[in-house]
Amino acid sequence: MHGVLAYCRPGFESECAQEFSARDAALATGGFARSRRDSGYVEFVLPDADAAARFHTSTPWRGLTFARQCLRVLARLESLPAQDRLSVILPVVRATGRRYADAWIESPDSDAGRELAGLCRALNNALVAALKREKLLDPASGLRLHVGLTDTPVAFVAEADLATAAPWPGGIPRLRFPSAAPSRSTLKLEEALLTLLDEGERERWLKPGMTAVDLGAAPGGWTWQLVRRSLHVTSVDNGPMAQSLLDSGLVTHLREDGFRYRPAQPVDWMVCDMVEQPRRVAARMAEWLAQGWCRHTVFNLKLPMKKRYDEVALCHDLFAEALAAAGRRFEWRARQLYHDREEITVFARVR
Ligand SMILES: C[S@@+](CC[C@H](N)C(=O)[O-])C[C@H]1O[C@@H](n2cnc3c(N)ncnc32)[C@H](O)[C@@H]1O
Repeated sequence: MHGVLAYCRPGFESECAQEFSARDAALATGGFARSRRDSGYVEFVLPDADAAARFHTSTPWRGLTFARQCLRVLARLESLPAQDRLSVILPVVRATGRRYADAWIESPDSDAGRELAGLCRALNNALVAALKREKLLDPASGLRLHVGLTDTPVAFVAEADLATAAPWPGGIPRLRFPSAAPSRSTLKLEEALLTLLDEGERERWLKPGMTAVDLGAAPGGWTWQLVRRSLHVTSVDNGPMAQSLLDSGLVTHLREDGFRYRPAQPVDWMVCDMVEQPRRVAARMAEWLAQGWCRHTVFNLKLPMKKRYDEVALCHDLFAEALAAAGRRFEWRARQLYHDREEITVFARVR
């Protein structure tokens, strides 16, 4: 098989497939998606090796919203022998003539996939040992080998370019809940800053002493992430904020409507986790950037509707129109985070 394999949140295979189909149409690569609801993965099949390489190169993980990981498929194995899986996997690896920095055996984030986690760990050790013996591992290689085990007899041998792939097994950053944070939502903003910005951007754009507004802030999980980085935060919400945050000296709590509030002075960041219609949120976020009220923003778009992919496209387009009308160029990076449920998280800024 020529193509790519993507992991996604179970239940979002169709959105992931739609995203790939849109890419495919733009690149004229002639592919099609193969997916099964709740499987946690999508195959995108391409007609030949050239099309697969072109598609994979033009589809870096950071540019995708619904895929947690995007891998180039080397082989689709129809049925791995349960007794000796490596005897089928290793010939595929040898045939590439390439060496790999590392090798990961993964399963999708579905109920069935999670049951394979123990098997993946055991096989992973055996695979790495075999690759070492055959001198197929090279720490200087820019490639990582992936084996995807699914709940069906089908398994995938695939590879990732380290520079453009997600750096976590299954594309899932495992974050520990900080016990001092007032809500589990805190992990959403932490993951957003980790996956939507690179290290250099985090250093340049999130400096102690900067200012931020948090719309829909209570009880304060997102505010906590900003305070942890020593930003001064105005937290807007009619609900109560955690006392520890108010005691930090860095937080001003305003019991106001987040859709009406505007800052007296421009701020560095505005973040927003208000539960509202995504179009209404996107329009207000665009206004903040268009008016120059903030330089960077992270916001959540809740997607309880059926046509989630279309809704995201619509939000993007109305956002783009508002900024074009204000004569502003902008950047939009959207992702369904591991900690997002029926929603996506967007980072946007004016250039
Ligand atoms: C999902 S919770 C936010 C959780 C928060 N990000 C955290 O990490 O703890 C949504 C919040 O949005 C607030 N909210 C909804 N509509 C609002 C509005 N128009 N103005 C201000 N806050 C609003 C709600 O009161 C609620 O506290």
